Amino acid sequence: VKKVTTNTLLRMKAAGEKIAMLTAYDFSFARVFDAAGIDVILVGDSASNVMAGHETTLPITLDQMIYHASSVIRGVNKSLVVVDLPFGTYQGNSKEALVSAIRVMKESGGHALKLEGGEEIVESVKRIISAGVPVMGHLGLTPQSIYKFGTYAVRAKEEAEAEKLKRDAILLQEAGCFAVVLEKIPAQLAKEVSESLTIPTIGIGAGPHCDGQVLVMHDMLGINNEFQPRFLRKYANLHEQITNAVHQYVKDVRRKDFPNEKEQY
Ligand code: KIV
Ligand code: NA
Repeated sequence: VKKVTTNTLLRMKAAGEKIAMLTAYDFSFARVFDAAGIDVILVGDSASNVMAGHETTLPITLDQMIYHASSVIRGVNKSLVVVDLPFGTYQGNSKEALVSAIRVMKESGGHALKLEGGEEIVESVKRIISAGVPVMGHLGLTPQSIYKFGTYAVRAKEEAEAEKLKRDAILLQEAGCFAVVLEKIPAQLAKEVSESLTIPTIGIGAGPHCDGQVLVMHDMLGINNEFQPRFLRKYANLHEQITNAVHQYVKDVRRKDFPNEKEQY
């Protein structure tokens, strides 16, 4: 198999080929996604929400991210695996950021890291990259800053925030990032940013002009029925399918249909 690398993604942008990225948090799903041809698997700190049931991404720890990432890595042959550095492990100073980065790379076997923010964290980004670790940026709605924003609404609708986002995107590219996630910003702004960069943009709720797209696996597979933002396309309704399967199993056990003569030793 030809492995996806950060260079593959740069070539894809140059060739106008769109990049498909999905989150995964464990071995079994990572194995299916990798075999199904996903380019990039993101071990997102959204694990805090969808795996652990927290309301935000803030509580998840570096150890927990390493556990998820190492599980994902064992399921992957081809996809590039990017791991989120969680809240509190890189914002303080660049030395702390490097220590966190090295722990994830050593202990999980992940291929690259993702950090949220622009100018505020660019020293950390540079220091991690100078150690030989590829970094993906993340701008727009950055969920680790949810208490600063106070809302999950669309970001950068106002001129000042849009201008800062454009500057931050250039700054991250100049710092050496190999890609940048744009989350929940106007499609027109994402278009301008994508055209201004040579590195690929990966959008979520950022319109069709990004160089790639990313979705949280639980959302696109329809495992969570309550989450219905405009940007989300559901490719399955696993909530319904799993519910039906469990109902059927409960019924079969209760009516002594399962196991039958063929299903025993
Ligand atoms: O943690 C996550 O799932 C993410 C994506 C939504 C980009 O950061
Ligand atoms: Na994340």
